[in-house]
Parts: sequence; structure tokens; C-alpha cells
Amino acid sequence: SKQTITVIKGDGIGPSIVEAAIQVLEKAGCDFNYEYVDAGLTALEKTGELLPQATLDAIARNKITLKGPLTTPVGEGFTSINVTLRKKFNLYANVRPVISFKGTKARYENIDIITIRENTEGMYSGHGQIVSEDGQTAQASSIVTKEGARRIAEFAFETARREKRKKVTIVHKANILKSTSGLFLKTAREVAQNYPDIEAQEMIVDNTCMQLVMNPQQFDVIVTTNLFGDILSDLCAGLVGGLGMAPGANIGTDCAIFEAVHGSAPDIAGKNLANPSSVILASIQMLEYLEMKDKAEKILAAVSDVIASGDRTTRDLGGSFGTTDFTQAVLERL
Ligand code: NAI
Ligand code: MG
Repeated sequence: SKQTITVIKGDGIGPSIVEAAIQVLEKAGCDFNYEYVDAGLTALEKTGELLPQATLDAIARNKITLKGPLTTPVGEGFTSINVTLRKKFNLYANVRPVISFKGTKARYENIDIITIRENTEGMYSGHGQIVSEDGQTAQASSIVTKEGARRIAEFAFETARREKRKKVTIVHKANILKSTSGLFLKTAREVAQNYPDIEAQEMIVDNTCMQLVMNPQQFDVIVTTNLFGDILSDLCAGLVGGLGMAPGANIGTDCAIFEAVHGSAPDIAGKNLANPSSVILASIQMLEYLEMKDKAEKILAAVSDVIASGDRTTRDLGGSFGTTDFTQAVLERL
């Protein structure tokens, strides 16, 4: 039977880039049903809720979701919708690949890095968020569990093995964050023992930032905790041309949500300026997850060709095309 994909168009630039990705999937001959549901500001305006029950039901029922970025109102007592989704569906692995494309204004070539970010614990566990009554002191708890560290480390080494990669870099700050990052590092080390075919490297997060900027080609697979993974994956996006080129998959044992790494980009929303590649690349991750390798390769080749052509790209990549014209070029190439 036909696979149904839950689609959340999202806020800001979301609808324009998600629609572009759906057009590309259709053109490539993917035979999906799409079930459209709302979340974020769009849902709040329509239903009074950021994350309506019908949306949660659709995500659970169809198992596969393609989603645009969501705006969480800041300072109004709302918890992040993305964090909520990741925790609710136990999407413990956030897989964020970046690769170099010819024809961008990126500073580097030959980059091929997958950041695997623990997606449910660490500083984003949401526990112990306290501001003192006088407003002078704030605190939050970081939680790392042995089980959480083990499963993300195993996910990273399994990914490395499946994709025939050579090295996994375990990124941590165990020298200062002795308890939390310490447990993460110790557990990842233990997991690494079971993968003698893959080199396990350890690197402290601040040095990792410097190394990524100085010599990014040395990296292959990175595995790390939630906050570090969030920050490092934007850094990695910057190496290959910016957030417009960075997709991410949130994967659990039962469900998966595919999205861009970036947010709703309010500064360019409604201007036909957004680069839809992030969500198109996320839909390629989705096809790989569904073991539709041929379609994934076909779409990747089309996107690569259009970007390599130089001028037919969006402005963030140095071209002069809007979202719709860039998408049209990809559709024509397909
Ligand atoms: P952002 O990621 O939306 O934008 C950062 C910068 O990158 C902006 O200058 C933007 O114009 C540019 N950019 C992002 N995507 C682009 C694209 N496809 N093409 C061209 N340029 C692009 O980060 P910001 O502004 O800090 O956050 C805005 C909102 O997004 C916030 O409400 C935040 O909570 C939300 N957000 C949602 C995420 C999600 O749904 N997964 C992830 C990150 C932020
Ligand atoms: Mg982020």
C-alpha cells in the first residue's frame, strides 16, 4: 500500500520550501499520499494550540513526517515545539549531514560530515528550569543517562558502519562537565570497543569548533550531546554554504521526522528568497530511510546540477534566483 507522509508546512519560510520539496518528490515519481496538518504559530492561530492533538495523531499514525520550521513564541511560557515533538516521539537521534556542492560560495570543498546529535536529553531535557523569585538567579539541569548515551553512540557507530565511513569523533566537555559529559564520554568509549573496524576519536567541543573551521575535511561522523550538536551542526552548515544547505532527520524506534536544521527565518519570510535545498535534502534523507535509494540519488543529482550551474541558485549561495525559480530549475532538470 502507498506510504502516507504527514506534512507540516510550518511557519515563516516553511510553507514555501516544504511545497518546493513536495513538488520535487512528485516530479521524481515518488508515489506518496500526503496528509497535511498544522503546528507552531499557524496552528496557534487556527486552533489556539501550538501542537494540536490531530497533528500528534497524524505523526504517530503515518510514522513518517516532513516538516517545515516552527516558530515557538519566546517568553510567553511556551516550551519549544521541536523539543516537545522530539521527546514525545522519542526521536533520540538527530542526524545532520553536510556535503560540499560545487557552485556555491562556500569557503571549503570536499566536506562530507554527519553530525549525530543526542536529541532528548542533556541541557535540553527541560528539567529544573528555575528562576529565583527575586529574578536574580536562574538555573537548569542537564541530564545524561547511561542508556541515552549508549543508544546514540550505537546509532552513530552503526551509521558509520552502514555508510562505510572510517571514523567517529566523540565530542564532549568531560574535563569541566565531569558528571554529565563524563558519563557520555565513558559510555561512548565503551560502545566504540564493539566497533574495531571504525576509528574512535575523542575531542573537546571548543577545540572541535576550531578544528572544524581550520581543517573540516578531517571529520567524518561526529557524535555528541544535545546542546553541542545543535551548535556544531549550524557551524557545519556554515562550512558548506549556510543553513539553506543543511537537512536533519529526527529518528526514533518507531517514528521519524525530517526537517531543515534552520528556523523559520522571519527576516526573509514572504520574500521568495529562501533556499529550499534544506527541505529538499531532508526529503532525500526521508527517501533513504524508506530505502528508496534510486529516487534519493536522482533528486540529489538534480539539485547538485542546478547549484553547479552557478547563477540559477538562491542568493544565499551567490545566485540571483528566488525560491520558485530555483525550484523550477530543479524540476526541469528532473
Ligand atoms: P533561522 O535558522 O530561522 O535563521 C538564521 C539565518 O539563516 C537568517 O538570517 C535566515 O534568513 C537564514 N536562513 C535560514 N534558513 C534559510 C534558507 N532556507 N535559505 C536562506 N537563508 C536561510 O534562525 P533564527 O532567526 O534564530 O530563528 C527564527 C525562528 O525559528 C525562531 O522562532 C526559532 O525558535 C525557530 N527555529 C525553529 C527550528 C525548527 O523548527 N527546527 C530550528 C531553529 C529555530
Ligand atoms: Mg538549532
